[in-house]
Amino acid sequence: MITLTYESFLTDHLAPLHSESDSLPLEVEGKIPSELMEGIYYKIGPSQRFIPYGYHHLTDGDGMIHAFRFLQDKIFYSNRWINTQCYELESRAKRSLFGSFLFPLEGDRSVRAIKPEKRSKANTNVVYHGERLLALEESGYPYVLDPISLKTKQALTSVNGRELHNITAHPKLDQDSGELHCINWHVLESEPNCTYTVFSKNGDIKLVHSINLPYRCVIHDFAITKDYIIIPIFPLLVDFDCVLKKKEKSLLHWYSDKGAYIGIMKKDPPFELTWFTIEPCYSLHTSNAYQRGHQIVLDLVLHNKPPVFNEMMNTTALNEKAQLIRFVFDLEKNCINKIALDSDDVYYNFPRIDDRLIGKGYDKTYACGIRGQHKNLLLESDALISFCHKTNTSSFYYPGSHYFTSEIVFVARGKDNYLLSLLYNKLTNKSELFIFIASTMLDGPIAIAKILHRIPYTFHGNWYDEKNFTSILIDKY
Ligand SMILES: [Fe+2]
Repeated sequence: MITLTYESFLTDHLAPLHSESDSLPLEVEGKIPSELMEGIYYKIGPSQRFIPYGYHHLTDGDGMIHAFRFLQDKIFYSNRWINTQCYELESRAKRSLFGSFLFPLEGDRSVRAIKPEKRSKANTNVVYHGERLLALEESGYPYVLDPISLKTKQALTSVNGRELHNITAHPKLDQDSGELHCINWHVLESEPNCTYTVFSKNGDIKLVHSINLPYRCVIHDFAITKDYIIIPIFPLLVDFDCVLKKKEKSLLHWYSDKGAYIGIMKKDPPFELTWFTIEPCYSLHTSNAYQRGHQIVLDLVLHNKPPVFNEMMNTTALNEKAQLIRFVFDLEKNCINKIALDSDDVYYNFPRIDDRLIGKGYDKTYACGIRGQHKNLLLESDALISFCHKTNTSSFYYPGSHYFTSEIVFVARGKDNYLLSLLYNKLTNKSELFIFIASTMLDGPIAIAKILHRIPYTFHGNWYDEKNFTSILIDKY
């Protein structure tokens, strides 16, 4: 059993990077596919600048964006911290002021009254939509970035006259309409609820709908289908009573007796919603969902308890299983079928698909992960996995035991399509961008771009065609 401590989140491959860089050309082994030219792969994660104020969790680190720009047969690397309000205040103070998100009463007296939405480190995902490149963290304001210089332009606090507090780090793009669907959770409302928000193709807010929840909890990810929104609810509760009355430090607590739910809601008014009860479990990430007649298929990575978090939340689940699971909800018979898609010794992390198939039938889930019981995804991820939903089989690419693997991104370009993944080489203490032809991932990368240093552990990223940015390169903010 591996024990994660305060120090674990600041050492080895999780340790912060303390420098920024601008358009550094990378040495590349192999041939960069010409189809990827004039595209940019963005990846984001935490990189803590100052000695933490108190307890430090991986998700507390200052957001840093990394960009790989494919241009003129080369790859150029840039990275920058996201200049959030936290970043600015701590820059002026020249030290940490904010405590961990887990311990809301900690932190310097000068910042204790600052509301949750202003505490975003913007370190979780980077998404382009409606002419905005957004750095996202689910509990706070999104930050608008310049797509080339990566400079932070502003916090997105309102859109077409409507206030915006926080949006999910996992918005779902409807490929047919261009609309961006979001489930945003809130901690300070009087009743447990979340908000369903839809951004129209041009980035305006099209609708906002409030949804009552069985309990007050965080919602990291969700899913969409053609007609429905799928809202998974797990009993990792935001518990103010524990902090304010029982004087416990942690805001999040695991209550398995509260049960888990999957909400299936129509996308359109009157937003009919059905809650299905499932046995207590936890999931950080969905793979995809789609409709099949009167059934809804939902694929996600399921844990028995929350992984990564620590014993302060009443769970010691550090090496939790992370199995690829399918739930099939029959809307007519009102019943659920749960199917294990892969064996329980394969641990999946950061499942991704060909994004053109979001909400539709699909045949591949890509993930990083490990095979073997009682391993820890945060520390031991050594494989890239392709799961075929047609044959129900997983295939593994092992780059070598000295590599730590991370999220795979599917790039729909050219006749081949490509996969990108940022790996950490423990022997050189540097990171490398692996580029695969999608259909032949198991044969290994066709090109590897060598970064001159280690990139700290990253969460999520996306690849975008530079043509997207033509209209916003003239600064409009
Ligand atoms: Fe995530």
